[in-house]
Amino acid sequence: MSDDKFSSPSSAPSELSDERLRPGALDEFIGQSEIKRQMRLFLNAAKKRKKAPDHILLSGPPGLGKTTMAFIASEEMKVPMRITSGPAIQHPGDLASILSSLEEGEVLFIDEIHRLPKVAEEMLYIAMEDFRVDVMVGKGPGAASIPLSLPHFTVIGATTREGMLPRPLITRFGLSLRLDYYKAEDLAELVKRSAGILAIPISDGACMELARRSRGTPRIANRLLKRVGDWVTVENVKMAREEDVKEALSIYQVDPLGLDRLDIALLSALELQFKGGPVGLKNLAAVLGENAETIECVSEPYLIREGFMARTRKGRVITAKGREHLALGRKDLFSA
Ligand SMILES: Nc1ncnc2c1ncn2[C@@H]1O[C@H](COP(=O)(O)OP(=O)(O)O)[C@@H](O)[C@H]1O
Ligand SMILES: [Mg+2]
Repeated sequence: MSDDKFSSPSSAPSELSDERLRPGALDEFIGQSEIKRQMRLFLNAAKKRKKAPDHILLSGPPGLGKTTMAFIASEEMKVPMRITSGPAIQHPGDLASILSSLEEGEVLFIDEIHRLPKVAEEMLYIAMEDFRVDVMVGKGPGAASIPLSLPHFTVIGATTREGMLPRPLITRFGLSLRLDYYKAEDLAELVKRSAGILAIPISDGACMELARRSRGTPRIANRLLKRVGDWVTVENVKMAREEDVKEALSIYQVDPLGLDRLDIALLSALELQFKGGPVGLKNLAAVLGENAETIECVSEPYLIREGFMARTRKGRVITAKGREHLALGRKDLFSA
């Protein structure tokens, strides 16, 4: 993989430092076996037909591997990938110029595709369906719209909010894959692989402990591993064991189940301010001083999946498990 492919303006510098850890092929992508199977079949079919594959939609919470999967797809197809994002496209003209510069077979990766402006969205689904874009020429009464035909290309869209995408756009994707939180066993394998790359000596038990505290999320697992790496360096540890992971991570206030500050704040607000609920998302967001989208797409999916809270027709409620975890926390949530 060439470096310049990764120098996308949309990836934050902290993400760039992770490039070494990013798997470059489908076989190196850990976990998510169903998704890998679907992707493999889909790409193999396209390769056999020697045609650009259908458009792909990747959805799921942050840090689960959407961008990674997009890179892998373009790698496997051996085609270049152009990167942009919903917020980067301010005007439909921005999208028109990207589309009209695409070459046959290229992949166009659109991160946070749910944040495309409406007009751009419409332009995109016409382009996806008919491989055509209407370019406006001239201004005022003399302006004309000229249809420009495009080569066959593949859009890979990534979103944390599939529910916000309009039907007409969703139906343009031939393959829609939903990434889910990872099992601890899979994350342990991921941590082991990353530790090898970063040359951090760590035992299998420690990998598992780290995995359990990573909120089911590869990005978090890699980040915590680096903090354990700091500990190893500073404490002159030959081989990080479970206890080292616990001690190192307690410094960073990572809870034994991997819940982060916002997760805990959310559960606490539910329990204390709202007497366990039900409460609406807006009220919850106001109390937490957080934006509703972050709560809905980042915190809640994990808390609900793990059974700490639930979403009912009347609003959000805390569960017995959530209460229990908070009670535990009042004693020593963040300690080993
Ligand atoms: N299945 C996986 N196997 C190995 N590493 C992964 C996997 N999924 C994600 N990662 C790692 O986690 C990091 C975050 O993944 P990314 O694709 O940026 O997530 P997203 O785009 O969904 O927010 C990447 O840098 C990559 O190294
Ligand atoms: Mg991403």
